[in-house]
Amino acid sequence: MTRHLLNILDLSVGEIDGLLRLASEIYDRPADYRDACRHQILATLFFEPSTRTRLSFESAMLSLGGNVLGFSDAASSSARKGESVADTVAVVSGYADVIAMRHPKEGAPMVAAAHSLVPVINAGDGGHYHPTQTLTDLMTVRREKGRLSGLTVGLCGDLKFGRTVHSLLGALTRYGGMRFVLISPDELRLPEFVRRNCLDATGVPYTESRSLEEVMGELDLLYMTRVQRERFFNEEEYLRLKDSYVLTPEKLRSAKPDMLILHPLPRVNEISTEVDADPRACYFRQAHYGRYVRMALILALLGKEKIEP
Ligand code: NCD
Repeated sequence: MTRHLLNILDLSVGEIDGLLRLASEIYDRPADYRDACRHQILATLFFEPSTRTRLSFESAMLSLGGNVLGFSDAASSSARKGESVADTVAVVSGYADVIAMRHPKEGAPMVAAAHSLVPVINAGDGGHYHPTQTLTDLMTVRREKGRLSGLTVGLCGDLKFGRTVHSLLGALTRYGGMRFVLISPDELRLPEFVRRNCLDATGVPYTESRSLEEVMGELDLLYMTRVQRERFFNEEEYLRLKDSYVLTPEKLRSAKPDMLILHPLPRVNEISTEVDADPRACYFRQAHYGRYVRMALILALLGKEKIEP
């Protein structure tokens, strides 16, 4: 059966751990994997803009000795002529061995998977999920913090539309001893479907706050996010909320000395560039880890490496 990755919950905790182990092994010994996907093709179908996710997928496949094809913008694909996702994928899955797809509509990768002959990876669907960013985030925490348990995690910014937060919560709530602090304005609180499926379903402890400063000292990990302008119905509302949180060196004074600062990027204004030199800021390293988790995922989905459940 063809295996896809649409939601982080498609993977068991054992499989996530296996992928992270493999990604770390590739990170430490990349030369051992440089021909692992020779003559295989990754298609990147990006109906929505992206820098990191698309390029890290391409870099991952090229680093495995494979090839890539695709488009980076719906306007340059037949979607412009009115072709459905189902038809595009039915065709492209005859041109490639694995597909990474980003789409502005929630659920589009599920439709793609139903019409694909090859594995489909959800590279972000609207305000829904982004499982490969989560693998990247988990690899970052594991490598930089040394563990994925017993952490107080602050998620800050646009928790409503931020798909990286939705997937990250889905994964982290399955690890032991986690506690969450949800930091957002009222308008951008976590949506009901994530609250129900991730928090209520697991009974994991969490609190909510409108103020980042008030909770800063409790956090082991601070995950900052961009206010997702493209998902707003109303530009005025976006303008009112966009600078709800701006992380500065002053605000970090009350933070733990070993608190990790993560951000899926792109950053707009929510982390001052003065924070970049702080050793706790690891968002650029985080982006680099993305290449290795995507290498691991491609190897697993193509059956080149076995990941135990
Ligand atoms: C995120 C996304 O696309 O959801 N970016 C990414 O993939 N690294 C976050 C964002 O766009 O704000």
